[in-house]
Amino acid sequence: MINLKDIEEELSEEISRINTISQLQQVKVKYLGKKGLITQAISHIKDLPQEERREYGLKANRLKEYAEELIKKAEERIKKEELRKRLARDWVDLSLPLEPAVGTAHPISQVLKKIRHIFVSMGFEVMEGPEVELETYNFDMLNIPKEHPARDMQDTFYVNREGYLLRTHTSPVQIRTMLSQKPPIYMIAPGRVYRRDDDPTHSPMFHQVEGLAVDMDISFGHMKYTIETFLRAFFEVEVPVRFRASYFPFTEPSAEVDIGCVICRGEGCRVCKETGWLEVMGCGMVHPAVLENCNIDPEFYQGFAFGLGVERLAMLYFGIDNIKLFFENDLRFLRQFL
Ligand code: FA5
Repeated sequence: MINLKDIEEELSEEISRINTISQLQQVKVKYLGKKGLITQAISHIKDLPQEERREYGLKANRLKEYAEELIKKAEERIKKEELRKRLARDWVDLSLPLEPAVGTAHPISQVLKKIRHIFVSMGFEVMEGPEVELETYNFDMLNIPKEHPARDMQDTFYVNREGYLLRTHTSPVQIRTMLSQKPPIYMIAPGRVYRRDDDPTHSPMFHQVEGLAVDMDISFGHMKYTIETFLRAFFEVEVPVRFRASYFPFTEPSAEVDIGCVICRGEGCRVCKETGWLEVMGCGMVHPAVLENCNIDPEFYQGFAFGLGVERLAMLYFGIDNIKLFFENDLRFLRQFL
C-alpha cells in the first residue's frame, strides 16, 4: 500500500529546501514525471479493491493538485529570488555623470583641417594625388633634371617597379591637376610625402600642402599676399614672416618662407638651429617649362605655387620642439590636444 501522507511530507520538505529552477525540475520529475511517485500512486488506484478505490483515488488526486500548486509557488519564489540577486549584482547608478568621449583628432589632422579651411575660404579647391607616384610626375615634368641631387637614392624612396617612387613632395599633384584641368586653377593638395630624412625637425614621412594658382596676370605680389594672409589666419596673430630667395627647378623666381621661431621667440634654440627662424614652405612663380609640359601656354597664363610643411606649422602652432612626438602615439602627448 502506498503511503500518500509520507509522499506529501517528503515533497513539502524537499520543496522548502530547493532554490534553483533546475532543482525544481528534478523534484517535478521525481513526483509528477511518467514514473514519478505521485503518478505511480495514481495508477495504483486500479490495483485496489473496489471499496477502497474512491477514498484513495480522491486523496491521490488531491495530492497531485497539491504537488502542482506547491511546485508553481516554488517556481515563483525561485524566479523572484533570482531576479532580486541579479538586480543587486548588476546595479547601475543612473545618476552618475556620463564618461566623456575620449577620442580626439590627431594634432596633425587638426592642423590639416585648419589649413584646408583657410584656403577653401579663399576660393582654393582641394585636390588629391597618389602617394606611390610616377617618377615623371614627381621629377621630370616639374623640370627637375636627371642629375638633380633630390633624385639621389639618399633622398628618395624608390619602389621596386621601374618608374615609380614614394612621392617626395606634393608638387606632382600640380602636374596631375594642370593635365586634367584648364586654367583658371586655384587648388591645394594636402597629403603625405616621404624622404630619407631624420632629425628633430625632419621625419621620413611627413605632410605637405601644395598650393597652385594659374590664371592670367598672376604676379609674385599675389603669391606673397596669399601666403601672408594664410599665415595670419593660421596663427591668429601677427607672426614675423620673411621671404628668402631660393631655388626650385619648377619655379622662377623661387623663395622660401621663414617664420619667427615661436619656441624661443627668435632667441635661438635647437629647433630653429639657433637662427631664430624656421622654414615652413617653399614657393615661387610656376616655371614656364612646367606650364608647357602641361600644355598651358605661358604667353597667356602665369601661376604661383607653394608647398608647406604641415608638421613644421604644427610644431610652431602648438610649441612642440621635436617632430617625432607626432608619430610616437604616446597618449600622454596626444591627450594634450583634446
Ligand atoms: C618642396 O618640397 C617643394 N615641392 C615646395 C614647393 C612647392 C616650392 C611649390 C615651390 C613651389 P621643400 O623640400 O623645401 O620644398 O619642402 C617644403 C617644406 O616641407 C619645408 O619648408 C619644410 O617645412 C617641410 N619639410 C621638408 N622636409 C621635411 C621633413 N623631412 N620633415 C618634415 N618637414 C619637412
